[in-house]
Amino acid sequence: MADKVCIITGSNEGIGKETAKAMAKHMMKVIMACRNTEKCEAAAKEVREASKNDDVVCMKLDLNSLQSVREFVQNFKAMNLPLNYLINNAGIWTGPHSTTEDGFETMFGVNHLGHFLLTNLLLDKLEASTNPRIVVVSSRAHARANLNINNLSVSAKDYSSTADYGRSKLCNLMFSYELQRRLDAKGSKIVVNALHPGVVHTNLFNTFPMLDWVIFPLASFFLTKATESAEASEALALGTASHLQGVKGKYFSVKDQVESSAFSKKVDIQQQLWEKSCEMVKIPVDIQFGNDGIGKSTNM
Ligand SMILES: NC(=O)c1ccc[n+]([C@@H]2O[C@H](COP(=O)([O-])OP(=O)(O)OC[C@H]3O[C@@H](n4cnc5c(N)ncnc54)[C@H](OP(=O)(O)O)[C@@H]3O)[C@@H](O)[C@H]2O)c1
Repeated sequence: MADKVCIITGSNEGIGKETAKAMAKHMMKVIMACRNTEKCEAAAKEVREASKNDDVVCMKLDLNSLQSVREFVQNFKAMNLPLNYLINNAGIWTGPHSTTEDGFETMFGVNHLGHFLLTNLLLDKLEASTNPRIVVVSSRAHARANLNINNLSVSAKDYSSTADYGRSKLCNLMFSYELQRRLDAKGSKIVVNALHPGVVHTNLFNTFPMLDWVIFPLASFFLTKATESAEASEALALGTASHLQGVKGKYFSVKDQVESSAFSKKVDIQQQLWEKSCEMVKIPVDIQFGNDGIGKSTNM
């Protein structure tokens, strides 16, 4: 697969790093899109050693900043590479309320909006490639959440760490459904699927000492291993397994295709989330490919 290219966000730690190893083993080019260049270089070395693939590179991407997302896409497009697989893996679960560089609540901004813009700006590259596929890493935490479309980026007054993490993961899922529908309407060949990667003891829980130090170590037997989550992400990215043939716009819990919450399937809310998100990141509502595509129309 030496002619294939994969971008994985947040791949210097946890599930993302294991996913980078899994994808790199197919000898494709793996781009680790991470916010901390130093941590990314150390992780890339580990990925190269584990996969015996030297074609693993780091590129700066901070989803906390829409400008950083635009710069990442600009830098990637300047490399004149194809893009076959995009794995939106990065995620954050914050403690106290905070905001992104652009003033959005951090989890909504990083987990959803940053990836929303990134994906939209890369659609032309994906569409121009063979077998293009997107994996959106969501979470079972979406199941308890709902969205107030007029209050997507909540203020400190309305904020709840756990509820807003769930909402950001619900946004991931609803985005993936809406994206697939819009791509299908355009006759696109891009395939999108969403994933709950299991419950894995990673840095995601660093701000919650009870989980991090007490509950997870005690419950380790019941947890998913990062390598299992990575295998699930790899399978959805490649799409070569027999049970994945023709499967798109679906939600998986680790290896199994499962139903997501009733709320996540509300098409009117999916559409409204898409439109609001376009407004927030300042891109046209209609997806476009090629020379007249989003990249050009937003001065990329
Ligand atoms: N672990 C679980 O049980 C679980 C369950 C359900 C869903 N998930 C989802 O799985 C995905 C991976 O999480 P994980 O468990 O592997 O957590 P993790 O070990 O904390 O890894 C998260 C990754 O996201 C990166 N990231 C955070 N903020 C970023 C930003 N502003 N820009 C770019 N990258 C950023 C982190 O970079 P730094 O190293 O620089 O912080 C790290 O590489 C997330 O989307 C998470 O929501 C995890």
